Amino acid sequence: MIINLNEAFLKQQNLVAFNFFNVETLAAILDAAHIENKVIILSFGESYISHTPLPVAAVMAKEYSKLYDIPFVLHLDHATKVETIKQAIDLGFTSVMYDGSRLPLEENIKNTAEVVKLAKERNVTVEGELGYLNKEDGSDQVEIVCTTVEDSARFVKRTKVDALAIAVGNAHGIYKKEPKIQISRIKEISAAVNLPLVLHGSSGIHRSVLAEAFKHGIRKINVNTELAVAGCRGVYDYVLTHGAESRLENALSDAKANIQAAAKQFLEI
Ligand code: 13P
Repeated sequence: MIINLNEAFLKQQNLVAFNFFNVETLAAILDAAHIENKVIILSFGESYISHTPLPVAAVMAKEYSKLYDIPFVLHLDHATKVETIKQAIDLGFTSVMYDGSRLPLEENIKNTAEVVKLAKERNVTVEGELGYLNKEDGSDQVEIVCTTVEDSARFVKRTKVDALAIAVGNAHGIYKKEPKIQISRIKEISAAVNLPLVLHGSSGIHRSVLAEAFKHGIRKINVNTELAVAGCRGVYDYVLTHGAESRLENALSDAKANIQAAAKQFLEI
């Protein structure tokens, strides 16, 4: 069954969102969720559309939902275009993220509020983002702009989002040095907005820090890089053992097994 973010929070206090973009990533994540008996979020990024068309991602997720008895959220991640959000909603996505984090605050508020209005009519939940990390694939290293308590309160009041992604020392991709997650800032923002907070860039953050973040207001963590690296490692090891003239489906089976093991670790937090 595919449910929205609020419905998922009613079933489970904290959630992990894993990115998928093909059958192997999708099935590996659902296998891990099945083994751990957890509600999860399947996240498909707007930036993946060049790899997998949005309707294909939606059909894959819907078909796979019939094969598993665990409910999950089908979420559009980091959408910067309202057109993509409308298309995703029409295709059955139950949750969307509008990413206006690079825009000036007022423009971010205006666009996010517009998305909330159109999503609410279709029972679709919306995540907004405040503060700036870096590109989703971690390909740039920029100074993180941390989210402030004042901006968060203003943003949530005016947009009526269901969840808020914040920048508190987290970044997408592989961390060059140990990330310092500001738990006190999470606490303060949580007290001010009283809304589920989202931590992007959770790969590479120590599990004990993620557990601490969950205690103080983060209710959704986003994980992509650790799964991607685990998958690549599966293919790499397979080719090292069997040579480049191998069967791709066998190499991908090893990738899938590694992705499942990596996802499972996050579900055990
Ligand atoms: P990582 O790739 O760093 O795990 O971040 C994923 C993410 O935040 C997706 O929205």
